[in-house]
Amino acid sequence: MAGSPRVALITGITGQDGSFLAELLLAKGYIVHGIVRRASTFNTERLDAIYADPHERGTRLYLHYGDLADGASLRKILEHTKPSEIYNLAAQSHVRVSFDQAQYTADVVGTGTLRLLEAMREYAAAGREVRFYQAGSSEMFGASAPPQNEDTPFYPRSPYAVAKVAAHWFAKNYREGYKLFICNGILFNHESPRRGETFVTRKITRALTRIKLGLQDKIYLGYLDSRRDWGYAGDYVEAMWLMLQQSEPDDYVVATGNSYSVREFLDVAAGLLGLEWTKHVETDPRYLRPTEVEALCGDPSKARAKLGWQPKVGFEQLVAMMVEHDLELARQERTLAAAGHKVVTRGLSHG
Ligand code: NAP
Ligand code: GDD
Repeated sequence: MAGSPRVALITGITGQDGSFLAELLLAKGYIVHGIVRRASTFNTERLDAIYADPHERGTRLYLHYGDLADGASLRKILEHTKPSEIYNLAAQSHVRVSFDQAQYTADVVGTGTLRLLEAMREYAAAGREVRFYQAGSSEMFGASAPPQNEDTPFYPRSPYAVAKVAAHWFAKNYREGYKLFICNGILFNHESPRRGETFVTRKITRALTRIKLGLQDKIYLGYLDSRRDWGYAGDYVEAMWLMLQQSEPDDYVVATGNSYSVREFLDVAAGLLGLEWTKHVETDPRYLRPTEVEALCGDPSKARAKLGWQPKVGFEQLVAMMVEHDLELARQERTLAAAGHKVVTRGLSHG
């Protein structure tokens, strides 16, 4: 019906990107449905700012229990929510953990994408207009030397990356075979104050800000010489949306075009806090990966030319944003500790 709001479905809505994307789509007037895994604890913290009780009037964000491991739940949710855009962001997204949980990661990331594509195919066959975004990763390039663009061969170096390559090809095959509107975004690392605390950037900003306020003394890390092309998650979800607004489906690299080592990230974050990180960082081999991805640096020329997309937040601004946010969290923790409360820090043994 002309003038009725567009409807989007997001898997992985409780994750970093899912929360930014939901905000973006709500601001554009969409009705947004999200798939949430059942957990014994609340896992919707990142949505707190935008989630309203469904009994309230004017709500445009709805959450549904489902799982990429459960194809029947995906089909039911599609039928029930009737989306015109599907964003597949759900994943076991931690590269180091994928070595510990290889089969699970392959199932959710690879076969899970296939389950959702199958659900989409049935849904489209019933005459529905629908577009699909697949959250691909620069990890798929793995050992291929930078700069990496859409023509760079994939050389995945972890079970996670292998599964993302499978998902990428499933998506491409369904696009070609069934003439479905499906886009693969190949996104380089993107961070924010909402980044999970076991990814290296957030692990560093959480620890250094706590060190600054005397709440801890050491941080344990793995390999410090790898290089990543780190952008801001808020910028990257805009590229996802733009891909689905084009007249033809296609695949796009989304990156800043600049890369820095983990050491350089430490330099900037510690510099902002007036700390010498070498006095606080220890190496723990548990954070090393059996196969490492040494250097990622994307060439986003195609996204710039065809989508008109470019990043707004630069590296130093990103680090500053994360440090500032985590310094405030550390201040709150210090206040609690000073009042005699126990401050619980989460275990980061897999991070
Ligand atoms: P994230 O914070 O780890 O979020 C992952 C989301 O997937 C969470 O909502 C999680 O739910 C959900 N999920 C995990 N397993 C699931 C399952 N079996 N069924 C349904 N949902 C499940 O990841 P992110 O950083 O937002 O990244 C979003 C997507 O982009 C992921 O596919 C990731 O692999 C990909 N990607 C990320 C980056 C990056 O730098 N951030 C770069 C390239 C590609 P819970 O909240 O319950 O855990
Ligand atoms: N997590 C973590 N913890 N990484 C560490 C540590 C540590 O203690 N010490 C060093 N590193 C190094 C890793 O070995 C890697 O080279 C780099 O820091 C970045 O690690 P992560 O932040 O865990 O991110 P990632 O690059 O492996 O994967 C992220 O980006 C991908 C896109 O390229 C994830 O978001 C993936 O889901 C995403 O696809």
